[in-house]
Amino acid sequence: MVGAVTLLTFLLFSAFQINEWIESLTGPHEAYQIDELPLTLLTMALALAWFSWRRSRQLMEQIALRLASEEQYRMLFMENLAGNLLASMDGAIQLSNPAAARLLGFGTADEMQGRSLEDFYCDSTQWQAHRSALRGGGKIELPRLELKRQDGRIVHAVAKLSVQPSPLHAPELHMYVADITELASMQSELAEALEENRRLSQRSMQVQEEERRNLARELHDELGQSLNAIKVDAVTIRDSHGNSAEVQRSAKAIIEVSGQVYDVVRGLMRRLRPVALDELGLRSAVEYSVEQWRRRHPAVRCSFAAEGELDDLSEQMNITLYRLAQECLTNIAKHAQATEVAISLTRVGAGEVRFICQDNGQGFDTAPRRQGLGLVGLRERVEALGGQLDLQSAPDQGARVRVSIPLKGSP
Ligand SMILES: Nc1ncnc2c1ncn2[C@@H]1O[C@H](COP(=O)(O)OP(=O)(O)O)[C@@H](O)[C@H]1O
Ligand SMILES: [Mg+2]
Repeated sequence: MVGAVTLLTFLLFSAFQINEWIESLTGPHEAYQIDELPLTLLTMALALAWFSWRRSRQLMEQIALRLASEEQYRMLFMENLAGNLLASMDGAIQLSNPAAARLLGFGTADEMQGRSLEDFYCDSTQWQAHRSALRGGGKIELPRLELKRQDGRIVHAVAKLSVQPSPLHAPELHMYVADITELASMQSELAEALEENRRLSQRSMQVQEEERRNLARELHDELGQSLNAIKVDAVTIRDSHGNSAEVQRSAKAIIEVSGQVYDVVRGLMRRLRPVALDELGLRSAVEYSVEQWRRRHPAVRCSFAAEGELDDLSEQMNITLYRLAQECLTNIAKHAQATEVAISLTRVGAGEVRFICQDNGQGFDTAPRRQGLGLVGLRERVEALGGQLDLQSAPDQGARVRVSIPLKGSP
């Protein structure tokens, strides 16, 4: 091109003898050195040509760089495993990557062109809300968005919407979507499994309690009665005079063994408590606990008094009163250093049960909050039944726990 222009210039210059013409024009003004002008202009033209060539090379480099970075962005946009969409502010899709097309049920990204984002929202009011929120720019992050595929299936996605304002063209809406349907269904499956687990373990505890109750009843009713019958028969044999000494010895042995077996049975029943409380009666359950406690603490005088009808209380009531006695005795053993303890369980008329445990030990200051959970737990149990727990103690003044629980159905 440059060569052609040069040749054309030379031909024109030689055809019209332009140099001679310029010389004839500038000759008369040689005094002003105007004849030097053509060469000067030529140099300037060359300099300008070099300058513009350098500038155009720089521009080419810049364009190449920009194209390369655009290609990178295009790659990131198109090849992303998550869905990317560009749309106008009214939701018309301008560009989509294959992942977004797949997510929304299309074969290729081109099929998405021109469709409206609104059509993919399960809830179009949600789309309206997002669109108006984005009008002022900014972004919306959605940890859970329900989208509708073109085949009607629902996709659970995590999404991000943002607006890119531009000085050159209308602002663009960018939507990023990732499919979490599998994750969401796994989550709900997990929640269901946990719930089922909870129900199962509750049921198994129920079954366990029922089984324990049955076992305790069997032990008490069947084995206890049979042992008693054996013992009574053995006593009759032992005491009848017609029997030989050997028979009487055997009868004595039978009495002894049946006594031992009965002790084992009682031990087993104790292990099955307090679930078996309502089967065996509160009074004897507490009495037995007190008895065991006395055995472990022979230096302490411990009295137990039960008054009134205590056999018709609810299971929850029985367990609460039983636990009260247990915890109070444990506390006295652990903290009180008492020599005397008095426990009473009284049915007051038809509407109330009272429990009192008093000791003459070292007592304690009840004002500060304490770390133990025993007394707190007792209060909770009592209050759950609509009752009251009153704790009185002071250093060197012993301690007294007084509980009153109303019976259900009473005014
Ligand atoms: N009969 C008592 N005599 C003296 N101090 C007691 C008695 N009962 C409870 N306490 C005091 O009250 C605190 C709280 O008791 P509790 O809630 O049963 O917790 P824990 O027995 O686990 O310490 C005990 O640590 C003890 O200092
Ligand atoms: Mg305690």
